[in-house]
Amino acid sequence: MKIVITEDYEELSRSGAQSILDVVRQTPQAVLGLATGTTPLGLYARLIADRKENGTDYSQIRTVNLDEYQGLPASHPQSYAYFMRKNLFDGLGMDPEHTNIENGMAEDEEAECARYDALLNELPRDIQLLGLGSNGHIAFNEPGTSFSSGTHVVTLAESTVRDNARLFSDISEVPRKAFTMGIKQIMQAKKILILASGANKADAVYKMVKGAVTEQVPASVLQLHPDCTLIADREAAGKI
Ligand code: F6R
Repeated sequence: MKIVITEDYEELSRSGAQSILDVVRQTPQAVLGLATGTTPLGLYARLIADRKENGTDYSQIRTVNLDEYQGLPASHPQSYAYFMRKNLFDGLGMDPEHTNIENGMAEDEEAECARYDALLNELPRDIQLLGLGSNGHIAFNEPGTSFSSGTHVVTLAESTVRDNARLFSDISEVPRKAFTMGIKQIMQAKKILILASGANKADAVYKMVKGAVTEQVPASVLQLHPDCTLIADREAAGKI
């Protein structure tokens, strides 16, 4: 794993945005695997600013997102579909037909997972962006998830529900289940870029980079990927 340590979140976001822009400029029809959460917000803001300044073209770019809460429609302000429109897709002028995410309202879970697996096979990702859970999760693959998992429904770990409660008015509103891309599919991306910011990620960063490769630390699987880069700010990199 290549490791880039930045002074602060600003520099992390700039450096991450540059990696995505390199792919978009080199491959106008690239497939981008994208994440939600707080960490990529600065990177997304920079992609939008770059498009305004330089007119970078996203008309042929396609995206696939990692995960979606179960039970929230795409119109719900806390859904990941809404998050992506608000924080990235609208600003890039993305054709909604070119963006993909699990349907949190799907009644048949198995059929929805199979649909997403098939879609991921059709759209091999040129780059997959990831955030890191404080418990070492990637997407919503919580500790103990098999490295060979495909798209599946998960019950979120209590620590993840607590971490995500800040985005809801009350912890009781945080959905307990979600659809997530599996670890096998994350590993199939040509390139992986994982971002980590803040001292609360320092333990997870240490285990991901220096610890054993184990399903108890899902992100540790990234040690096995041939082209994975971690960009961490000083605080997140504090223990490595
Ligand atoms: C988001 C996702 C999660 C987050 C992780 C870190 O789509 O799959 O794995 O990347 O929980 O979240 P933040 O960035 O909010 O600390």
